[in-house]
Amino acid sequence: MNKKIAIIGGGNLGSAIARGLLYTKSVKPELIHVTRRRADMLAGLANEGIITGNDNISAVKNAKIVLLAVKPYQVAEVCEELKGHLARNAIIISLATGIENKKLVELTGGKHAIFRAMPNTAVAIGESMTCLAAINATPEQEKEVEQFFARLGSVLFIPEELMAGATVLAACGIAFALRFIRAATQGGIEIGFSSDMALKIASQTVKGAAQLVIEGKSHPEAEIDKVTTPRGITISGLNEMEHQGFSSSLIKGLLTSFQKIENLSK
Ligand SMILES: NC(=O)c1ccc[n+]([C@@H]2O[C@H](COP(=O)([O-])OP(=O)(O)OC[C@H]3O[C@@H](n4cnc5c(N)ncnc54)[C@H](OP(=O)(O)O)[C@@H]3O)[C@@H](O)[C@H]2O)c1
Repeated sequence: MNKKIAIIGGGNLGSAIARGLLYTKSVKPELIHVTRRRADMLAGLANEGIITGNDNISAVKNAKIVLLAVKPYQVAEVCEELKGHLARNAIIISLATGIENKKLVELTGGKHAIFRAMPNTAVAIGESMTCLAAINATPEQEKEVEQFFARLGSVLFIPEELMAGATVLAACGIAFALRFIRAATQGGIEIGFSSDMALKIASQTVKGAAQLVIEGKSHPEAEIDKVTTPRGITISGLNEMEHQGFSSSLIKGLLTSFQKIENLSK
């Protein structure tokens, strides 16, 4: 991609996107401009050749894609600062949880294609699940933003009202999946592995399970059937986990996060 990208807010997610663009060799580093107020904290990205600083206006100058990666309560202030300085054909992509597209149109002056994007932190290694919802965008602009995030993982356009759900399932979901890996690692240590060995085995096993579903286009239960011999070891362990509330606790956790996000947006 040969267009300038501005990332306003080089915190956890903004920096992860910048790193993902480098990791996947999607954009030359000199075409990426990342800002935050404490610009010295962007030294790692600057060492990779990315333009960094605290000047948002110079960052968006001639930028074709402007990512707003500040906290939701900082979005209005940043939009106010940028209004009038955005390139005529700039596409605005907001990562801020809970700020609706129609509000973003209002905040940015109504002249630009707007997207809400919900990636997760695996964006740093080109393995994000990114959900998108657009407003005021042409089909070509939708294609362009889809291709942008496709370089950084998988992409799905969803109805905007599902964005809160996408936050829970995909963005919080990284933490939920990692907690599974941690628990499996702890179990592995108890049955005799060193923590390094247990972590390697647990994490590669989760990766393999996910790839079976993604690449094999199969259902998790069909894959489970292949490894559960009647009266066997796997089904005994699996059923014990279910008796202890494994699936139920995961679903309840997802719903609790979802209820919290719904309450915050009221
Ligand atoms: N983390 C996730 O997994 C995730 C997933 C999906 C969406 N999101 C959304 O992504 C956004 C960022 O989340 P985060 O976790 O990356 O937060 P974060 O680490 O706090 O990053 C926000 C960054 O914005 C910078 N900032 C604040 N005001 C600014 C300004 N006026 N100009 C330029 N930069 C400014 C802050 O740095 P200074 O204080 O140095 O300016 C900070 O580095 C949030 O809206 C969140 O809802 C996060």
